[in-house]
Amino acid sequence: MSRQTADRAYDIVLFGATGFVGTLTAEYLAARAPQGLRWAVAGRSAGKLERLRERLAGTSAPAVLQADVSDPESLRELAGHARVLATTVGPYLEYGEELVAACADAGTDYLDLSGETEFVDLMYVRHDARARETGARLVHACGFDSVPHDLGAYFTVRQLPEGVPLTVDGYVRAQGMISGGTFASALGQMARGPRLLAAARDRGRHEPRLLGRRAQAPLGAPRFAKEVGAWALPLPTIDAQVVRRSARALERYGPDFRYRHYAAVETLPFALGGVAAVGALIAAAQVPPARRWLSGRISPGQGPSAEKRAKSWFSVRFVGEGGGRRVFTEVTGGDPGYGETAKIFAESALSLALDDLPRTSGQVTTVEAMGDALIDRLRAAGIDFRVAALR
Ligand SMILES: NC(=O)c1ccc[n+]([C@@H]2O[C@H](COP(=O)([O-])OP(=O)(O)OC[C@H]3O[C@@H](n4cnc5c(N)ncnc54)[C@H](OP(=O)(O)O)[C@@H]3O)[C@@H](O)[C@H]2O)c1
Repeated sequence: MSRQTADRAYDIVLFGATGFVGTLTAEYLAARAPQGLRWAVAGRSAGKLERLRERLAGTSAPAVLQADVSDPESLRELAGHARVLATTVGPYLEYGEELVAACADAGTDYLDLSGETEFVDLMYVRHDARARETGARLVHACGFDSVPHDLGAYFTVRQLPEGVPLTVDGYVRAQGMISGGTFASALGQMARGPRLLAAARDRGRHEPRLLGRRAQAPLGAPRFAKEVGAWALPLPTIDAQVVRRSARALERYGPDFRYRHYAAVETLPFALGGVAAVGALIAAAQVPPARRWLSGRISPGQGPSAEKRAKSWFSVRFVGEGGGRRVFTEVTGGDPGYGETAKIFAESALSLALDDLPRTSGQVTTVEAMGDALIDRLRAAGIDFRVAALR
């Protein structure tokens, strides 16, 4: 815990607690937070917050704080009350920056669920330096994007020899449904191709050069991957960038590290159908009326039912190689988009608030900020990390 934030009123403040993932996260914290945790739910609607608090009462009832992203002063107050501020208020490109700025200024640890690469790159350029001055840790993508991939690649690297070039390929399989908030964020991303690339280039100009080591995450080519018995389609999500940043930060990834990220699909027709569907969605997202129509299909605050979530699952298989060794590992869990995202998000907030972690600051990945401590927490909470074979 930084000395600067030790006297804050709350260990954790959960902003956006009344949304779909926010409510699941609040329920998780109420059920699993250790006794004595000082925490609060925050949002823009006093009525919704009060109803949420009443539902949680009897377990570990949180305090209630009101703040609105259209009122920057309310966000500064929120940041000033918390040691760790976890926010689900997205799309982050639209709603997120003021809170990142407030946390960077106040030395408050910040977590979000943003898989929006443009947002994360802009926040690096604009707020990383200030957060390093104040000691704040800014951790983006603390849900299914990108924790199983970031921690899973790190777990795989740890099974391989040190000080040698390493390659890791990750293959994601998942079955689940989407909420209104996620759909809105995804459509927004698809419409912003050139701005996304510009933000990535600008970040590249600001990032210090890596001296004497290499860490890359190139987009792989589609292929049949016999090591996992499935068609592998390159996934241009934020996950590979996060893995690359962890590899840049930690010597343990060796002198020359390469990560490739794929969706694993059982059959060729299914693979081709997936590519066509994503292509159609990207094309539609470029046309404003089509984008508006699509985003009206699922409203904010809505998401899959508990019954549907219970049938959802994910598996990420990793194949790592280096120094004459080859390792197969796997990270598995339940509903990736919501149940497990809320669990991962809540455990990340608890880890930042309570665990004895390496000293880091500025924009950091989940591996840099929490690493082994978060793997231990997720394992205890039912997300499995295992070595399937070592050769
Ligand atoms: N990384 C992952 O794997 C992952 C998984 C799931 C979701 N996500 C992301 O998480 C975010 C939330 O998703 P969701 O499905 O929970 O969305 P949601 O149900 O629409 O929730 C959004 C939250 O933002 C709040 N909000 C909106 N405008 C606000 C304002 N002006 N001031 C304060 N609060 C405001 C809403 O408050 P009200 O309740 O008052 O409307 C609600 O609490 C999305 O960006 C989504 O992409 C990421």
